[in-house]
Amino acid sequence: MEFNSDIQSVLKGGYHCKLCDIHVPNKASLDDHLKGRKHQKLSSVRATRKAQAESSLFVTGFARETSQLQLIDYFQHFGSVAEVIIDKKKAVYAIVQFSEIEGMQSAFSHSQHVLDGQKLCVKPREKKEFRYIPKKKQDPRNLHQCVEHLSQELCQAASVNEQMHRVVESFQLSEAEKEVRNLLVELLQGVFTEFFPECCLQPFGSSVNTFDIHSCDLDLSLDLEKTKTFQARVKGSSDQAQECRSEDIQSEDSILSDIDLFTASTAEVLDLVAAVLRKCVPGVHKVQVLSSARLPVVKFSHRELGLQGDITINNRLAVRNTRLLQLYSRLDARLRPLVYCIRYWAKQKHLAGNPFGGGPLLNNYALTLLIIFFLQNLDPPVLPSVNQLKEMACEEEECVIEGWDCTFPSQPIAVHPSKNTENLCALLAGFFSFYDQFDFSGSVISLREGQPLPVTGFLSKTVGEEELMEQLGKAGDCSLKNIRLGPVNLLDPFELCHNVAGNLNERTQKGFRRECEEAAKYCRSLQYQRKSTKGKVWGLVRLFEPLGGGTQGLSRDTERELAISIPFKAAMLPDSVRSELLLARGLFRQLWFKKVCQAVVGVLQDVLKCSVAPSDKPVKARVRQEELEHGEGTDCAASAHIGPVNEDVKQDVSVTDCTLPAGENGLNVQEAKNSCACPSSLIKECSPQDTVLVGLKRPLCRDDTLVSPPNKKQMLDSATMQPLAHWHCLLWHRVWVGRRKVRHNLLKSLREASKPEVGGIELETCVTKSIAQENEEAQKLLEFSMEAELLGCTDDTQIILKFTPGEDHGGLFQDFFHFLESFLPKMTEKLLAKLK
Ligand code: UTP
Repeated sequence: MEFNSDIQSVLKGGYHCKLCDIHVPNKASLDDHLKGRKHQKLSSVRATRKAQAESSLFVTGFARETSQLQLIDYFQHFGSVAEVIIDKKKAVYAIVQFSEIEGMQSAFSHSQHVLDGQKLCVKPREKKEFRYIPKKKQDPRNLHQCVEHLSQELCQAASVNEQMHRVVESFQLSEAEKEVRNLLVELLQGVFTEFFPECCLQPFGSSVNTFDIHSCDLDLSLDLEKTKTFQARVKGSSDQAQECRSEDIQSEDSILSDIDLFTASTAEVLDLVAAVLRKCVPGVHKVQVLSSARLPVVKFSHRELGLQGDITINNRLAVRNTRLLQLYSRLDARLRPLVYCIRYWAKQKHLAGNPFGGGPLLNNYALTLLIIFFLQNLDPPVLPSVNQLKEMACEEEECVIEGWDCTFPSQPIAVHPSKNTENLCALLAGFFSFYDQFDFSGSVISLREGQPLPVTGFLSKTVGEEELMEQLGKAGDCSLKNIRLGPVNLLDPFELCHNVAGNLNERTQKGFRRECEEAAKYCRSLQYQRKSTKGKVWGLVRLFEPLGGGTQGLSRDTERELAISIPFKAAMLPDSVRSELLLARGLFRQLWFKKVCQAVVGVLQDVLKCSVAPSDKPVKARVRQEELEHGEGTDCAASAHIGPVNEDVKQDVSVTDCTLPAGENGLNVQEAKNSCACPSSLIKECSPQDTVLVGLKRPLCRDDTLVSPPNKKQMLDSATMQPLAHWHCLLWHRVWVGRRKVRHNLLKSLREASKPEVGGIELETCVTKSIAQENEEAQKLLEFSMEAELLGCTDDTQIILKFTPGEDHGGLFQDFFHFLESFLPKMTEKLLAKLK
């Protein structure tokens, strides 16, 4: 192989290609590299650049206002000019590139050049060695420098309020950046009109909703409704069109004749849009159609402007909700700084952003809605609910899109200013406490109502749907049953069947809450509120520390309790249970608690062959203010029990013994309350049929006024009673040891047709039986107590199962608990799903 000047052999072995800045280990790889695409492409780019440089002149001395065209005109006399580039900033020099080297030679040999009375200085273009500079991905050092710079600036501010304004100033788009975006929209509108007559391209999202930041996407909606009408018109008058073909019709012929907008799918339309972008818009590249997204989209980049854009078709709801965000932003000047700071905080904590599109994190729209919702829930509120806005709109402002009521006033003047005078520093801290204490799994966040709605209203596919739709003020073609319930339920303000946070998983939701808790705690410190006199970081700077850096560790994580959490997963429950919970309304938590307790006991007894008996051992109580206020003694609250679980329950972990005694909601609250007064007698007399919740206590509402404004108390108040239950358990077999192997052998030995579901109750019961048979003479292996506590209302709805081992000389309990941690929630979920 012949060596070329790009290749150097390396002392330590292998070769280095200077052109591609690449190391290859041996000659064979070098051969491959030289024939490869990258090397070939760079060689060809270098050759072109060299030829261009050889046929170019470096020109100075022209007047500042001289245009590109004037220069082309002048140098055209010496040969065909391929391109003229004027230095953008100062217009001091220009590069004139001729199509042929002869043109350049002719111009260079000319003795004197004069343009508009100015003497030009003309030199051959300096020849620079071609260097390949790899595309900058994102230089973390630069990013670091930016954050460093911002941190220094923030530390110098006088107050948190000032810091928040500085964050806005450093992130928001400059006027020039906005202008560039407008120009691109105009350019695209022009091009699309050629192909889709009467179309309308409308920007939405962060470019225009007042929460713009450098490098934010350019979201565009291409509205083709008028183009459809146009197409129908043209088709209808095709005879006349034959006679006099207008220009419009010619353009219709070119692309619209290929497609019928009335019948075409969005994906087909997007393919056309992508083709137009690729072929007709200068500077546009990386065009990609994503037709499987919730809203199919064409993504593109603009090389020179360094912009990324998304085009969706007829996305009128997004255009409208962008206007709503604009209105909210104009209604109260505190919203903008809050949004900028919380978005940045969320990005730093890896809670929001989804850098690669889809993902389990909050998107910026969802995060903004959460902030608005928080401001609607303050007392007095900073922002009105969407329903209140609707009331303030006049007739001309009425707006219905795809069946959804999107009415609100177009001008902020129509809305009374807020009476709330809290400053930014307090509001930011309030946001964190609000969501630290929010019951995500038990509520649906409704900006429409401006308050949380109990999730039960969304559980049943049929019952209550109409009523709820009415309550929410509309009926669209999509019904509530389509709502994707998840760990966070955040209703879109218009499209009421869309959970904007439906992509979040439990991990992200827990992360969000944990970070809110961490931030709320920090915001109570002086370090947040006051500027450091010793030049230390303070205020927002510490709040913005990236995840993993700086403040770490909260009690929740560090104190390792023997506790297992069973979260409320509405979406996983069978329809029958959903309907029951719906009927229980505000008491749905208690009903769910009862069902879960029965399922947990079922898993321990049936699947793991433990002995489980209700225990009347009082559980240590946490005295709460509310209990004292209600005159309920600590003992009473602590002695809460669920009815005994005996053989009957064991045999039937089903709705029959969960059916609640009479009462408006199926729950006998009075009985439950009375039971507080004489807990022990009730425990003893309880039969499985009247398995009732006794000993109800109210959880601590850290800031009732903040979390629950008076008008929503009615909805959630009854849900604040919180039951406890406890059991005494005996374990007879080492059910966790070799379980996987036993399971594997069992599955192998069974015929395909009779194989139980993998991971199901039946199989796991057989596995335990097998383990038990191997160890015929069962002895008591472990003794432990289990306590179930229901959380909710000011926390996520969940049940915490706390375990306390008895004597454990062999140190077995830790192993057993470790096994239970994953086994118990999974199996409980399976049993719950079997409820009919
Ligand atoms: P983004 O989440 O991208 O928000 O949604 P953004 O404010 O533009 O932030 P960047 O682009 O990440 O900086 C863009 C727009 O898409 C619509 C909303 O109009 C939102 O402003 N959208 C988004 C919805 O209508 N529904 C959704 O679930 C998500």
